[in-house]
Amino acid sequence: MTAGGTLPFGRLDGRRAFVSGGANGIGAAIVRSFAGAGAKVVIGDLDVANAAVLAEQVGAVVAKLDVSDAAAVAAVVSQHGPFDIVVNNAGVDQHAFFTDTSPQDWAKLIGINLVSVFACTHAALPAMQSARFGRIINVTSEAARLGSKGGAVYSAAKGGIIAFTRSIARENARFGITANAIAPGPIRTPMLEQAVAKGGDKLLGAMTDATLLRRLGEPEEVAAAALFLASDQAAYITGETIGVSGGMGISA
Ligand SMILES: NC(=O)c1ccc[n+]([C@@H]2O[C@H](COP(=O)([O-])OP(=O)(O)OC[C@H]3O[C@@H](n4cnc5c(N)ncnc54)[C@H](O)[C@@H]3O)[C@@H](O)[C@H]2O)c1
Repeated sequence: MTAGGTLPFGRLDGRRAFVSGGANGIGAAIVRSFAGAGAKVVIGDLDVANAAVLAEQVGAVVAKLDVSDAAAVAAVVSQHGPFDIVVNNAGVDQHAFFTDTSPQDWAKLIGINLVSVFACTHAALPAMQSARFGRIINVTSEAARLGSKGGAVYSAAKGGIIAFTRSIARENARFGITANAIAPGPIRTPMLEQAVAKGGDKLLGAMTDATLLRRLGEPEEVAAAALFLASDQAAYITGETIGVSGGMGISA
């Protein structure tokens, strides 16, 4: 419940939302969904070309930034905030066996996938605490719960997001702020297309076979979960990780 009262189911009218990595894939679907629900959306992304096209379509604002750069994130939040909703979605994967990775690879993957979540949350939380309302939604991965052959560092970063989300939920419940994570399975996005371009049909088959529903998910299916978690109706849900993965996560 906010000062303005409870909004109808599926509506975010007047809410100010920040979506990292909102130019493409899952983030773009979340931007479309939130803007369609009446939110004022800021897209934080390195890919300003695609972000600008989307922003024009849905009436959003673009902030160019590298989410792993905490100072840049703080500047964007200070310029465009405060935010009621923060979706930490930006991420990158890099398929390689762990023994073939370097400390530079670890730093890059942890920076973009995990430090980015610290940075955006750290910048946005004080205003949420003052407003006594907030929604933090962190995009992790089923790889966090299941592990990933060829994605050890990525999985570790995504596992860190789940633990971080629970801690932020504990620290901020008293302010009326919820923090939850979404764990996608294989979702049809540019990130997945890049992986399939390298791994071929064998990888695609393995990914779909790992789901109970035997198919890829669509970005809009992840956005639907994000919209729900952002809504007033999800006020009693915090610290959770919701799989949007065709049942992939139930063995975890
Ligand atoms: N697609 C999947 O199958 C899948 C599965 C599990 C988890 N995820 C997670 O979902 C999230 C979105 O993935 P996606 O598939 O839509 O990826 P994507 O590559 O299609 O889109 C990611 C977006 O993040 C942006 N980005 C990347 N690095 C950035 C940086 N340093 N600063 C700012 N923006 C940056 C990119 O420009 C892009 O717009 C990621 O966190 C990813 O790990 C995806």
